[in-house]
Amino acid sequence: MSTTTRRLDTTELEDRVKHMYEEVALEPQREFHFETGRPLAERLGYPAADLDRIPAAAIDSFAGVGYFLDLAAIEPGETVLDLGSGSGMDSFLAALATGPDGRVLGLDMTDAQLAKASGLAAEAGLATVEFRNAYIERPPVEDGSVDCVISNGVINLSPDKPAVFAAAARALRPGGRLALADIVSAEQLPEGVTCDASLWAACIGGAMQRDRYREAIEGAGFEIVTVRENDQYHFVSDRAGNATRKYGVKSISLLARRTAA
Ligand SMILES: C[S@@+](CC[C@H](N)C(=O)[O-])C[C@H]1O[C@@H](n2cnc3c(N)ncnc32)[C@H](O)[C@@H]1O
Repeated sequence: MSTTTRRLDTTELEDRVKHMYEEVALEPQREFHFETGRPLAERLGYPAADLDRIPAAAIDSFAGVGYFLDLAAIEPGETVLDLGSGSGMDSFLAALATGPDGRVLGLDMTDAQLAKASGLAAEAGLATVEFRNAYIERPPVEDGSVDCVISNGVINLSPDKPAVFAAAARALRPGGRLALADIVSAEQLPEGVTCDASLWAACIGGAMQRDRYREAIEGAGFEIVTVRENDQYHFVSDRAGNATRKYGVKSISLLARRTAA
């Protein structure tokens, strides 16, 4: 009898994620496995008055899973790193909070998302926000140079979540914050789901079991301050909805602080 362990094909996953989020950047009005745009952002809790102050096209391509900027509590003058910045909505909102003396760096691996976000920043004359092509597992920033790392709907897509949390901890100054929204599951997902690159790209297959997710964050040198469930977030397709109900796949917002050591 042979026992074969299925593996996720990470090259296929990267291709699928890039393809999916290229479409989110270029054709945000299309239907995806997940919701997008301003109605989603407002339902998740983004204040309409803040959304009115940033480029509307960035909001059209918003594909995040929760509101967490209240937890981030970004102050004027701070340096913020956005992991998986997409078309830039959270980066632009962070730039409102950091003001002219702060700086926001958004990282993404999908060219169309970067082109859209950079174009919108240039059009709006937002000189304190920059977008770069990079993997969130290896952010190109100096150790200890960031006050707050933010991320929305992205870390679940990484096949190496401990590497992402370790990179965030390295980028942050001691006492710096990690504030994010992401997808986790109540139960460990079975291989049939975790090895399906299309379910990963739809933000389900990569959901880590929630206790393991907390352990990965703490193991990277963070103290978790707040975890909040985002009941307003739902997946759209039947397949996604079934996995969600069966394994308790959920959106959470979370704040953690980098410990001093
Ligand atoms: C669900 S979208 C969220 C985008 C944005 N945060 C938002 O809220 O609209 C995920 C984004 O993460 C990017 N991404 C996924 N995995 C990545 C990785 N390992 N490194 C860099 N970017 C990644 C994708 O290209 C995509 O733009």
